[in-house]
Amino acid sequence: MLEPVVGTEPARAGLPPEMTRLERMLCACRGEPTDRPPVWLMRQAGRYLPEYRELRARTAFLELCRDPELALEVSLQPYRRFGMDAVIVFSDILLPFQGLGLKLDFSPGPRVENPLRSERDLARLEGSVAEAMAPTCETIRALKAVLGDETAVIGFAGAPWTLAAYACETTLSRDLAVLNALSYREPALLDRMLERMAEITTESLRLQIEAGADVLQIFDTWAGTLSSQRYRRFAGRALGQVLAALPSPRPPLILFARAATHLIEELAALGPDVVSLDWRVDLQEAAARIGGRVALQGNLDPAALLAPAPEIRKEVERLIRAGRKACGHVLNLGHGVLPTTPVESVAAFVEAAKHGTP
Ligand code: CP3
Repeated sequence: MLEPVVGTEPARAGLPPEMTRLERMLCACRGEPTDRPPVWLMRQAGRYLPEYRELRARTAFLELCRDPELALEVSLQPYRRFGMDAVIVFSDILLPFQGLGLKLDFSPGPRVENPLRSERDLARLEGSVAEAMAPTCETIRALKAVLGDETAVIGFAGAPWTLAAYACETTLSRDLAVLNALSYREPALLDRMLERMAEITTESLRLQIEAGADVLQIFDTWAGTLSSQRYRRFAGRALGQVLAALPSPRPPLILFARAATHLIEELAALGPDVVSLDWRVDLQEAAARIGGRVALQGNLDPAALLAPAPEIRKEVERLIRAGRKACGHVLNLGHGVLPTTPVESVAAFVEAAKHGTP
């Protein structure tokens, strides 16, 4: 059984009395009222935690992902310490590639040894996403067995454009040389590649829904490299195919894109429940632009967790106030926790979120 998580929460006048973490997360994602914004952090399980580093010293990253017992343990490590409202399953967006014959290596960044570059390469991309995702699905089932209806479990996948970036580039640089070249020279090939990636994203999410994920997040980490017009043409079109192919009704879906301030209207138009913002955009400005149509997630600069605790509390209070301008707000960082983040800073962030601001 899970040990009780530290920290009690003050009751709020006029609001539902004790929402569970799961209810809080689901309501915020759907734009319904909550007692306070739910809180979790991208990369909340990872290298900033000594207990993760200890496990990792003995086990390779992919092995952690592929062993449901270890993945369950790693997923729960931050929850035991801080009691976030949601637990994201420990896995990786590139895991499905392993079932499809793409040779994946993390040393420490991801590298595909046999990248996709041609129709021939695409044709050899066959196999089973289900087999590659089986350990992650088993971890989700185990998380649901431990957390019951108390806490939200988040399943996730990479967006087609971001998966394509990792599938065709060997060393990923900011300018996505190979993928962008394809988009100008061989758009029809890129379309087929994105269609294939959209199938992978959809299948991966569908399996995680079946396993019991309460909320889904799609990561479009490399979307920001595109202009709005080309985003609509390539990445957005493929994401639209994913959203259309998911079962209905489905769990609330969060869409994250990095460096994509220019794209937030496009992201909201695709029909997710939540748009997750990186730290470059002001939350209040984003709320004015799209906060009437979708809930927002974010968006503290991960580097702000290197500041002293009083600064972190001030930033959280500012975000909570700004988030009230949107129809729902999930408190989070603008991208993943940095490995150099002090554990105390994550504690300060989560505590400040729970105690809120008048
Ligand atoms: O706690 C969580 O957020 C859940 C686990 C999670 C991981 N990767 C574990 C991980 C999630 C949600 C991801 C998503 C992911 N993976 C994305 C999208 C989010 C983002 O960061 O933009 C991307 C692009 C990947 C691919 C990937 N995996 C990269 C680029 C890297 C290396 C970068 C780095 O931080 O070193 C990984 C490795 C990885 N994925 C680690 C973890 C905990 C570090 C592995 C280690 O212990 O060495």
